[in-house]
Amino acid sequence: MVNYREEILDVSSFPTEECLELVHAFNNKFPKKDAYMFLDGSSLHIMLIQLDMVKYRELLDGLNISTDLINKAFDMINSIGSYGLNGNKRLFSGYNAERKVVNRKAKEKNRSKHYYANDNNFSKVNTELPSEYENKIICADSLQFLKKLPDNCIDIIFTSPPYNFGLEYDTHNDTAMWNDYFDMLFAIFTECIRVLKYGGRFVVNVQPLYSDYIPVHHIISNFFIQNKMIWKGEIIWEKNNYNCKYSSWGSWKSPSSPYLKYTWEFVEVYCKGDLKKRGNKENIDITAEEFKSWVVAKWSIAPERNMKEYGHPAMFPEQLAERVLKLFSYKNDVVLDPFNGAGTTTVVAKKTGRRYLGIDISEEYCKTAQKRIDESYSGQQSLFDL
Ligand SMILES: C[S@@+](CC[C@H](N)C(=O)[O-])C[C@H]1O[C@@H](n2cnc3c(N)ncnc32)[C@H](O)[C@@H]1O
Repeated sequence: MVNYREEILDVSSFPTEECLELVHAFNNKFPKKDAYMFLDGSSLHIMLIQLDMVKYRELLDGLNISTDLINKAFDMINSIGSYGLNGNKRLFSGYNAERKVVNRKAKEKNRSKHYYANDNNFSKVNTELPSEYENKIICADSLQFLKKLPDNCIDIIFTSPPYNFGLEYDTHNDTAMWNDYFDMLFAIFTECIRVLKYGGRFVVNVQPLYSDYIPVHHIISNFFIQNKMIWKGEIIWEKNNYNCKYSSWGSWKSPSSPYLKYTWEFVEVYCKGDLKKRGNKENIDITAEEFKSWVVAKWSIAPERNMKEYGHPAMFPEQLAERVLKLFSYKNDVVLDPFNGAGTTTVVAKKTGRRYLGIDISEEYCKTAQKRIDESYSGQQSLFDL
C-alpha cells in the first residue's frame, strides 16, 4: 500500500477564505488518489502521492488569492528534493521504497547542502551595470576590461572559453601550456565571479580535451568549488557528432587501451551565494512546454552550422544560448559573455529581451558580433521549436 506524503504549511498569516478557496480549487482539480488538501485551524495539510507541477502552477496562477500564499503553496511542494517521475507527474510516494533513507531530512540538515560554499564572504549588495557598458560589444582582453566593472552587477554569465585545442582563432593563441592556459582562464573567471550578482548564475560550456586526457570540465568545476560557488548542475549537450574518426579505436578489440568516443559537450551551472535567483514574475519568458523539456538535463541540439559564414572556428548554436538564458534568467537581466566570439550569447540576449555585454579580444569577431546584433531584433519570444 502506498502512503500519502504529508506536508504542512503554516497559513496563520492568511485569511481563512483564501485558504479555503485554495483547498477547494485543488481538490476539484486533482483526483484524491493523486493528492488532496485540507485545512486544520492555521495548518494547511497537503497530502501527496503524485502531482503534475505545471498544472498545479496553472491552477495557482488562476486563483484570486494573495501572491504570497500562492508562492508558499507552490514552493512547499516544489522544494521537495526527492521524487520519482510518472509521465508529467512528480511521484512523491512509494517511488523508491527499497531505497528509502531513514531520517533523510535530519541527515541532510546535519550534513548541510553545498557545504563547500557555505562559508563564502560574497557581498549580498547588488549594483547596476554602468549604463555606458549596457548593450555593448567590447573589443578587449577580458582580464583588463572586467576590472572596470563594479562588484555584483551582472545577472548571468554564459560563455564558452577557448578550449586550448589548437584551433585557428583570429588573435588568440590556442596552444598554450596547460598551466598558462588555466592561469589565464581562472584570472578571468575570478573577475567574472566578482562582477556577478549575489544569486547570479555562471554557466560554462566546456569540452574536455579527451585526446590529451585533460578533464577540463573537472578542473574548471574544482576551481569554482574552491571559490565558493555552488555547483547547481550539469547539462549534457548532445550534438550527435563524434569527436574523432569512427575508425580510431585506440587498441582495436583489446582492453589494453581502447579509445572512448564522445558525441557531447558539457554545460556546467554555478550559482553565487544562493541557488535561488529572484526576479519579477512578468519577466519570466519560458513556456510550460519548454520548462518541462529543458529541465531534463540532456539537450539534443545540432552544432552551429554557420561557422564558415561567420568566420569563427568554435561557435555554439543560438538554441543552446536560448535554453540557458530562458531557463536561468529573466527578461531584462544583464547577460555577460567574456569570450563572446561571433556574439551568439549577446545576439540571443537581445532577441529574448535581455541586456547584454559581450567581450572578445578579436576585432574581427567583435565586428561580426555587432553585425549580427544589428540585424536581429528584440522580443522574439520563441526562437526555435522544442
Ligand atoms: C570558444 S570561442 C567563443 C565562441 C562564442 N561562444 C560564439 O558562439 O561565437 C572563445 C573566444 O574567446 C576569445 N578570447 C580568447 N582569449 C580572450 C581574452 N583574454 N579576452 C577576451 N576574449 C578572449 C577568442 O577570440 C574566441 O573568440
